[in-house]
Amino acid sequence: MDRTRELGQKVNMAKDLSFICTACNAAHSKWSGRCDACGAWNSIEEAKPLSTGPKAKGLGVKRGRALELTDLATEQPEPPRTHSGVAELDRVLGGGLVKASALLVGGDPGIGKSTLLLQAAARFGRTGLKVLYVSGEESAAQVQMRARRLELTESPVQLASETSLRDILTTLEAEAPDLVIIDSIQTMWLDSVEAAPGSVSQVRAAAHELTSFAKRRGIAVVMVGHVTKDGQIAGPRVVEHMVDTVLYFEGERGHQFRILRSHKNRFGPADEIGVFEMSGKGLIEVRNPSALFLSERGDPAPGSVVFAGIEGSRPMLCEFQALVAPSPHSQPRRTVVGWDGGRLAMILAVLESRAGLPFTGLDVYLNVAGGLRVGEPAADLAVAAALISAKEDAALPADCVVFGEISLSGALRPVAQTENRLKEASKLGFRSAITPVRAKRVGSGGVALREMRGLPEFVEGVFGAR
Ligand code: TYD
Ligand code: MG
Repeated sequence: MDRTRELGQKVNMAKDLSFICTACNAAHSKWSGRCDACGAWNSIEEAKPLSTGPKAKGLGVKRGRALELTDLATEQPEPPRTHSGVAELDRVLGGGLVKASALLVGGDPGIGKSTLLLQAAARFGRTGLKVLYVSGEESAAQVQMRARRLELTESPVQLASETSLRDILTTLEAEAPDLVIIDSIQTMWLDSVEAAPGSVSQVRAAAHELTSFAKRRGIAVVMVGHVTKDGQIAGPRVVEHMVDTVLYFEGERGHQFRILRSHKNRFGPADEIGVFEMSGKGLIEVRNPSALFLSERGDPAPGSVVFAGIEGSRPMLCEFQALVAPSPHSQPRRTVVGWDGGRLAMILAVLESRAGLPFTGLDVYLNVAGGLRVGEPAADLAVAAALISAKEDAALPADCVVFGEISLSGALRPVAQTENRLKEASKLGFRSAITPVRAKRVGSGGVALREMRGLPEFVEGVFGAR
């Protein structure tokens, strides 16, 4: 290779990427107003290396002594936990609240985060924890009004309305509560950071201060973070990696159902969910979500299919609804609520090429009833069934559930926890199930199984007779 080119490459490789985007952590070689990686404006900052001079103290790790993982494995006791007494909340926390931990509760504005946390604060207060609820959005009088509406005025929770983190930390030092709720992290500001409250630097600095305070003083800190779709206010994403647990509170505005989902949890399983219903007196836990999600179902209709799903550690039935209609547009519509749009496109392509069912020229709408969001690939077959049922105008039997993953070849793949899915279906009165051929024989809880190998067999067997 030509000598100058070789040198040029070396220089390139060693290029100094010392500018970091505070929104997405992408590294850049120079400052610019907009990050090419995530498109955020004014988010690039110079990352100054820490000094490692003679004054810096080393860790004192002895050379050649490796830490043996087995040393740790035998010595780790389960962290002590406090139960709120609300089963739906405790399960999502991984079995209760852990001391010296930092939690983030994210969600759309108005979804019910403040309501949930005020109720949780009251519950934890009644178990004997010293709880402080700090609102940066409402005055103490407003929070009190909400507490009255929720009938929580008797609960031992201290309220404060404050946005200066320095003042809050001073109070925390003095009061030493067991649990503090910060509502919301976007309203908090530190005087040592120049940016406006809600900006990436403020949110990050505030979350960092609170997290390290939690660890140092052994208290649990819950931070509320609003998620905004347009990214105007720094979302809680920048905080996610700092905290131990990230919970998202989701749901559709028009529905009463709210789902608290663990997105990350150092002290328990991720993807666990808790189901609540928003009522006039706050959130009520829903012990039997399947019954709730199916409660609005009428007579069997074309396009409606019941999916036997698993959310976290528990089975949950829900209804997929599809509508297929001739499209007046040159580019037919594909609209999905509650499921992944990319996955819908895949199923439509597989239906066309493996089962001979084209959807060209047809608008397709897919919805999960009740405002639930399903992420499991096991729902593939239920989606396919809903689409075919809508297209062919043929309803499935009312007492039938469907589940199974579809591969690109059109084959049906067995899914995990078949037995639990069938048990839940049986409990709710379903008598038949359409599933992939099972890898191992398990009890079916009295549900009659129609096992299928692939999509062609499914289409023929279920819709073919017409
Ligand atoms: P809120 O907890 O203020 O939402 P967030 O903190 O996520 O922004 O909840 C706001 C909505 O909840 C509001 O539209 C009113 C409704 N709500 C009820 O339906 N019942 C209640 O008891 C309460 C307190 C609120
Ligand atoms: Mg709020």
